[in-house]
Amino acid sequence: MIWPVILSGGSGTRLWPMSRLRTPKQLLPIAGDDTMIQATASRTGDRGRFHAPIVVANEAHRRAIIAQLDAAGIESGELILEPMGRNTAPAIALAARRVVAQDRQGLMLVMPSDHVIGDVAAFHAAIERLMPLVADGWLATFGIRAASPETGYGYIKLGDWLAEGVSKVERFVEKPDYDTAQAYVASGGYTWNGGIFLMRADRYLEALARYAPAIDAAVAEAIEGATLENGVLRPAREAFARCPSDSIDYAVMERDDRVAVAPVDIGWSDIGSWDALFDIAERDDQGNAVRGDAIIVDSRDCLVRSAGPLVSLVGVSGLTIVAEHDSVLIAARGRGQDVKKIVDRLAADD
Ligand code: GDD
Ligand code: MG
Repeated sequence: MIWPVILSGGSGTRLWPMSRLRTPKQLLPIAGDDTMIQATASRTGDRGRFHAPIVVANEAHRRAIIAQLDAAGIESGELILEPMGRNTAPAIALAARRVVAQDRQGLMLVMPSDHVIGDVAAFHAAIERLMPLVADGWLATFGIRAASPETGYGYIKLGDWLAEGVSKVERFVEKPDYDTAQAYVASGGYTWNGGIFLMRADRYLEALARYAPAIDAAVAEAIEGATLENGVLRPAREAFARCPSDSIDYAVMERDDRVAVAPVDIGWSDIGSWDALFDIAERDDQGNAVRGDAIIVDSRDCLVRSAGPLVSLVGVSGLTIVAEHDSVLIAARGRGQDVKKIVDRLAADD
C-alpha cells in the first residue's frame, strides 16, 4: 500500500486573474470540471493500492481543501498545515515523518496538487515498474519527454537501464539556464523531471539528514511539538520557522546517486501558463478553446475563459482572454509567462 502525499503550496501567479493568492490554481477547475487537487487525489483513489492521501498545505487553504475533497467523495488522510512555506524539501519531510511513524518502510508517492495527467493508467503502470527498485531504496522520479528548452524544470540525464522502462539518473540538473537547457534538448538523452516522486519515506529522511541536516533537524523538532486534532496536524511553529527553505530537487535529487527515473508518456502538464493550458485544452473547429459565456464571430485560435461576463470576439486570432468579475486579461498567445509581470505590478501597487 502506497501513501499518496499531495503538495499544495503554490500561488500560481501565471494563471492570473483566475488564480489568486487566496485561490491558487490547485483549488480551481482549471483543466476540467474537478479542481486540480480533486483530480490529483482521484488518481490514487483505489483504496486497495493507496492509503487516503496526506495533504501538506497552507493554513489559509484548510477549509477549501477539506470541502473540495469531501465534495469529490475522497476520503482524506492527515492534513498537515505548515505555519509558513519552506518549499518542498521540508513539506515532504513532514509527511515522511508521519508515514514512518505508521509504516516503518512505507512508500510515498509525492504529487504536486496542480498537475494534469491525461493517461492515469500509464501513470499507474510506471508506478508498478518503479516499485521493486523503490522498495530496495532507490528514490524515483517520472521523466517527461523534453519538448522544448524550458528553464522552469529539472532536467534528467538518462543513464543505464535498471529494469524494463526504468533507468538510472546519471545527472539531475534543476532549472538550468536557457543555453544549457537548449543543449540538453538538442542532445536527446534528457527528460524533464515531472516533479512527482516515489520513494521510501525512511530513505528520503536518510538522504535529507545527509544532504540537508538543518532541514531534517528542524522538521523532526516541528513534528515532535506538533498538535493533532481531527486529522489536522499542525507542526510546531517556532521549530518550523527555523527550517531552511529549499526544494527536494536542489536539496536531495541533484545530490543523491541512487535515483531512478521512469520515462513516461502520461499526458503530463504542469499548466505553468495560459499557453500551456491552451496546448492541452479541447478546441472547436476554429481552434478556439472556450469555457464560459462567449459569442465568437470570425475568430480563431483563442483561449477564452469566463467566470461570468459574456465575452464576445469579432475578427481576432491568437489571443488569451480571461474574464473574472473584477479583472480581465487580454494577452497575445505565446506571452503567457509575462502574465507574472502583471501580478508583480499589482503587488507593487498594494
Ligand atoms: N505544502 C507545500 N509547501 N507545497 C509546496 C511548497 C511548500 O512550501 N512549495 C511548493 N509546493 C508545491 C507546489 O504547490 C507544487 O504543487 C509543487 O509543490 C512543486 O512546487 P513548484 O514551486 O511548482 O516547483 P517548480 O514547478 O518550480 O519545480 C518542480 O516541478 C517541476 C515540474 O513542474 C521541480 O520538481 C522541477 O524539477 C520540475 O521539473
Ligand atoms: Mg510547478
